[in-house]
Amino acid sequence: MIGRLNHVAIAVPDLAAASARYRDLLGAQVGPPQALPEHGVTLVFIDAGNSKVELLEPLGADSPIAAFLARSPGGGMHHICFEVPDIRAAAATLAAGGARILGDGTPRTGAHGKPVLFLHPKEFDGTLIELEEV
Ligand code: CO
Repeated sequence: MIGRLNHVAIAVPDLAAASARYRDLLGAQVGPPQALPEHGVTLVFIDAGNSKVELLEPLGADSPIAAFLARSPGGGMHHICFEVPDIRAAAATLAAGGARILGDGTPRTGAHGKPVLFLHPKEFDGTLIELEEV
């Protein structure tokens, strides 16, 4: 079902500082910050050649990233995202197999303007998995 790894997302307490470290210490290509209030994040994308890294900073009071950072103040890996060709077919297969889809179970528009859904970490060894239709 899944295709390539689209991105690894890391929650960070200070987006500017994290971006500078990736750029200056790792020599990475860091994109401009994008505020996505509907997702409660400000993010940057880092081009890792075969994939991307997404740095996420909380935006707004009810940001899911704020909750994550409350548990892990120094930041940490938040989710990994795999590409799928048909997200509704993927959702049906996963639900039939017993995986839990977060929210109401239907895809919504993600940070890249494409349909996404998130799978509960409990079925995946503590890792939050995002699926993105490409
Ligand atoms: Co993501």
